[in-house]
Amino acid sequence: FKEVCVLGIESSCDETGVALVNIPAQGLPVLLAHALYSQIAMHQAYGGVVPELASRDHIRRVLPLTEEVLADSGRSLADVDVVAFTRGPGLAGALLVGAGVACALAAALGKPVLGVHHLEGHLLSPFLSADPPQFPFVALLVSGGHTQLMRVDGVGRYQILGETIDDAAGEAFDKSAKLLGLAYPGGQALSQLAEQGNPKAYKLPRPLLHSGDLDFSFAGLKTAVMVQTGKCAQAQGCAGPDLPPGVLADLAASTQAAIVEVLVKKSLTALKQTGLKRLVVAGGVGANRLLREQLNAECAQLAIKVHYPELHLCTDNGAMIAMAAAMRLQSGEQAATQTYGFDVKPR
Ligand code: KG4
Ligand code: ZN
Repeated sequence: FKEVCVLGIESSCDETGVALVNIPAQGLPVLLAHALYSQIAMHQAYGGVVPELASRDHIRRVLPLTEEVLADSGRSLADVDVVAFTRGPGLAGALLVGAGVACALAAALGKPVLGVHHLEGHLLSPFLSADPPQFPFVALLVSGGHTQLMRVDGVGRYQILGETIDDAAGEAFDKSAKLLGLAYPGGQALSQLAEQGNPKAYKLPRPLLHSGDLDFSFAGLKTAVMVQTGKCAQAQGCAGPDLPPGVLADLAASTQAAIVEVLVKKSLTALKQTGLKRLVVAGGVGANRLLREQLNAECAQLAIKVHYPELHLCTDNGAMIAMAAAMRLQSGEQAATQTYGFDVKPR
C-alpha cells in the first residue's frame, strides 16, 4: 500500500471545512492540516440556517480554505491523490457546492473522487484523537440532526441499535435554547447558562427512559420546556427570554439534565446488551461537558473506556470527512475514477 493523500471537503450545513489527510503505508491516517469557516454568525439574525445563504457562502469560502490547507501542510494540489466530499445528509444546495468543487478538482487533476456519509465522518472523528478507539465499540452519535446508538465492528460495518423517533438531542438543546432567548444554534450557550443553574429546579420528563429499547424521543421534552417556561413567564409577568437570569439558568440546567440523563442511560443499556467495553461519542452534542462527565463517571465504574473526538472536531469539519474517506480507502474501498458526474443525498 503506497502512501496516499486525501483532500476532504465538508459543506452539508453551515460550516465549510477542508482538510488534508495522509494515509501512511501502515497505521491510522494522519491529519496534515484542516481549515474551517463557520457561517453561524450570518444565520443568527434569522434564528436558524437559511439554505440559500449557506450555499452562497460555501461557494465563497471553499477555494480559499483549500488554498489555506495546502499552504499549511506544505503540499500542492499535485500531491492530492483522492478528493473526498460529503455526499449527504444535509442541505441539497450546500452539499452540491462541496460535491461540485470536489469533482471539478478531481477532474482537473485526473484523480478519483469519493463521496462520504456525513455521519460516518462524525462516527470516525475520534480516530483523529491522540487516543483512538479500537473496534468493536458502541457509538452514541449525537448531532444537530441525528441521535443514534450503533454497534460498530469496523469501517463500514455499522448496525443501528436505536435512534430518535422524532427530534434529535441537538434539536432538543437548540429548540429549548431558543425558548430561553439564546441565539442559534444554542446548544453550547444553553449548557453554559446551565452551569449557574439548579438541575433539579424543574421536573421535566425523561422520554422513553424505561422503554426497554434503545430508541429516543425528545419532542415531548421540548414541549415540556415550553410549558414550564410559559408558567415561569406568567408568574413573573414577562416573556420567556426576559425571565430573571437565575430562573433562566435553572430552566437551562433542568433541560440539560433531562437530555443528558436519557443519553447516558441508553448508552449504558446498549453497552450492557452488546457486552462491549468501549463507547465512542461523536457529533456536536458530544462536546457537552455534563454528558462527558456523567458518561466518564458511569463508565469508569464498569471498566468501560469512553472515546471522544477532540472538542473542536465534535461539530462539523473537513477533517472528519477526509479521515472517513481515508479509512474507507485503507479498508479496500475504491474511489471512482471514470466519471465526475455527481449526485448528493440530502436525506
Ligand atoms: O454535529 P453537528 O455539528 O451538526 C450536525 O451534523 O447536525 O452538531 C450540531 C449540534 C447543534 O445542535 C448544537 O447546538 C450542538 O450540536 N452542540 C451542543 C454543544 N455544542 C454543540 N449541544 C450541547 N452542548 C454543547 N456543548
Ligand atoms: Zn454534523
